Amino acid sequence: MTSPLQSLHERLQDNMLAVNDVILSRMHSDIALIPRMAGYLIAAGGKRLRPLMTLASAKLYHDDITTLHPLAAAVEFIHTATLLHDDVVDESALRRGQSSANHLFGNASSVLVGDFLFARAFELMVESGSLNVLRTLSRASAIIAEGEILQLSLQGQTTTNLDQYLQVIGSKTAALFAAATEIGPMMTGQNEAQQKALYDYGYNLGMAFQIADDMLDFSAPEDLGKNSGDDIKEGKMTAPIIFALLHGSSSQQETLNKILKKDNLESEDMHTAQTILKDTNAFIHTETLAKTYVLKAEQALLTAPTSALRNDLTELAHFALTRGK
Ligand code: IPE
Ligand code: IPE
Ligand code: MG
Ligand code: MG
Repeated sequence: MTSPLQSLHERLQDNMLAVNDVILSRMHSDIALIPRMAGYLIAAGGKRLRPLMTLASAKLYHDDITTLHPLAAAVEFIHTATLLHDDVVDESALRRGQSSANHLFGNASSVLVGDFLFARAFELMVESGSLNVLRTLSRASAIIAEGEILQLSLQGQTTTNLDQYLQVIGSKTAALFAAATEIGPMMTGQNEAQQKALYDYGYNLGMAFQIADDMLDFSAPEDLGKNSGDDIKEGKMTAPIIFALLHGSSSQQETLNKILKKDNLESEDMHTAQTILKDTNAFIHTETLAKTYVLKAEQALLTAPTSALRNDLTELAHFALTRGK
């Protein structure tokens, strides 16, 4: 069966080819290390989910969306820059099924090439000539950084509650999805209600996407292309952990607290944590939470004009949760 992601890629194939050309030409620099590193990560693929959503959210309203090509590339540059920085912060060794850039080229180069891609994204935004778009995407970039920094300051704090977690993921992940889809109606001259609807769609899909990603960290299938167990190793307070602490017995809470505070986790600790998560129904609670966001995303799209493309976007909200299954 075709996934909504595949279907959107097919529908927007010509536009995505043009976006890819922008990506390849604008990642270029005479400083050889830049295209080498950026190219390494970009050639590894990635789902190109955010630029695809930017294109689709414009195509809902307008047939000719060529003015969105540089902006879709800017959105992917912002995403790629945050991944370069994130893998340094998380000390991750695997990304998109290959050695992460920091693992291969070092932390310093990853940070600097990430900065370069951020700066390139801003050039592309300025070229769009729309101050509103520039405002939306630059605000999202600041919010992503806030989310990563808030998460860092909560690391290992086992009293972190669900609201704090939702603030982290709303900032580090959902903000970019929201901006990516808001600029579609914005660039095609739609009213504020439509811009808000597409913002809400992207935001809620982004929330579901990150919650699903946080569940996948406990089970990461091979094709996810990143290591599993990274979150718990770093004491990251994600939804499954928060629910397990909330619903666990005092002895389960105590065991989990100890594991979260440990510096070097053994495979036995991972196994113990997994068992507690299962026994406290933490995954079921997490999935229920993610579903509420899928439904909100679906709702938000109801005011957009009906089309096969809109159906794909609705399906995509469900896919955000079921991917990896
Ligand atoms: C990874 O995003 C970062 C998260 C928000 C979980 P994606 O899963 O969209 O990454 P790529 O671009 O497909 O590799
Ligand atoms: C991804 O966050 C990076 C941003 C959203 C900025 P995570 O650290 O949770 O995701 P992965 O697992 O590395 O992709
Ligand atoms: Mg990470
Ligand atoms: Mg991270």
